[in-house]
Amino acid sequence: MKVAIIGQGYVGLTIAAFASKKYSVVGFDNNQKIVDQLNSGVSHIEGVDSELMKIALASGNYRASISGSDIAGAEIVVIAVPTPLDSERKPDLKYIEAACKTVAENVTGPVLIINESTSFPGTIRNFIKPLIEKLSENKYEHLYAISPERVDPGRVDWDQKNTPRLYAGLTPEASAKTREFYSSFCDVLVEVSSPEVAEAAKLFENTFRQVNIALVNEFAQIAHALGISVYETLAAADTKPYGFMKFNPSAGVGGHCIPIDPTYLAHVADGLGVPATFIKRANEVNLEMPKYVVSRLAADNGGNLSGKKVQVIGVAYKPNVADVRETPAELVIAELKCLGAIVNWHDPLVKFWQGGESTALGGAEIAVVITLHDVMDPVQVSKSAPYVFDTTGKLTGVKGL
Ligand SMILES: NC(=O)c1ccc[n+]([C@@H]2O[C@H](COP(=O)([O-])OP(=O)(O)OC[C@H]3O[C@@H](n4cnc5c(N)ncnc54)[C@H](O)[C@@H]3O)[C@@H](O)[C@H]2O)c1
Repeated sequence: MKVAIIGQGYVGLTIAAFASKKYSVVGFDNNQKIVDQLNSGVSHIEGVDSELMKIALASGNYRASISGSDIAGAEIVVIAVPTPLDSERKPDLKYIEAACKTVAENVTGPVLIINESTSFPGTIRNFIKPLIEKLSENKYEHLYAISPERVDPGRVDWDQKNTPRLYAGLTPEASAKTREFYSSFCDVLVEVSSPEVAEAAKLFENTFRQVNIALVNEFAQIAHALGISVYETLAAADTKPYGFMKFNPSAGVGGHCIPIDPTYLAHVADGLGVPATFIKRANEVNLEMPKYVVSRLAADNGGNLSGKKVQVIGVAYKPNVADVRETPAELVIAELKCLGAIVNWHDPLVKFWQGGESTALGGAEIAVVITLHDVMDPVQVSKSAPYVFDTTGKLTGVKGL
């Protein structure tokens, strides 16, 4: 059976790597560089080993393509494209819209269309299905389903195989075919009663994290004002064997999920007249953290950062990935520059970012650690400047949250 996967990023390529063990997979992406790289057996995604792609290519079960016509003959189409926010921080479905166009123009018969991109409840029923029907002038009667992706890039204990997968079709036939597809590479499949439940569950999972991260970030500020260690306090609370889950403070949230998905839920809630106040406040707290961190730097350094050399260490949004999407490091750098600091950054995984290059560790008067990758030596980082401020809680003998 041929499967087309639209979007070969973190989600789409991960699915492609697993699915190509059983199916013939076309990985469609509109980025030529990514397609060329994948066809030469080089994965651009942490967690998807290039060796795996080489094996899939050699078996003839995988190829990447930039040509929509290559999805012809597929029986299943999986959509895994970005779902960002627009300039007004509202859901932006333009990539899903483009993916629907590719499907409508290129499938050659009835197919099962599964959306894995994160979006608000009602996306498969009220957006994707009517759009494909309109664009293809109802040429075929397709099946539609949702199976939100839960991959955590860089994580090794929970992967595509052992992470339970939610799914629901718009019809029982769509549900059954979706189950059959994923059961070849997922151990635990959880069917829910409607696509809206699956879509909402995905958003709520990430909202749970967003709100709790905001709560601990606010608590870090309270703990500092109280003159106590936030980490010792959290460790103490964590000795309670029930009713408590530990989250760690940080310079803010990043990546494609936590800073964005909750706003998709807030958007739909607003439309229903239920104000999502927790989500909005949590967004504010997390987005204010970079300013708070810089204010602590300034307070410890004579109240003025103007003209001071500052190195930002670790610009990826989390450890052990090169992903800089929505990274709080960007807001920290902007705030430092706003206060007149002379800023450079160091990240052994990112190397190039925003037209600039990672500098060697050290050489600044002040260092602020946003992300600590495993390849970085904590002792060297701790000694990289006369004043080091750690937002990760992993360094000893330095200032921190
Ligand atoms: N990254 C994660 O950890 C994660 C986890 C769970 C869910 N998600 C969700 O999955 C979806 C995809 O996220 P991602 O992280 O894989 O994004 P990504 O940016 O890593 O990859 C998306 C890919 O889609 C391609 N693309 C964009 N528009 C296209 C189009 N019209 N046709 C073909 N290709 C197109 C891009 O070139 C890119 O390679 C999003 O909705 C995201 O919220 C992501």
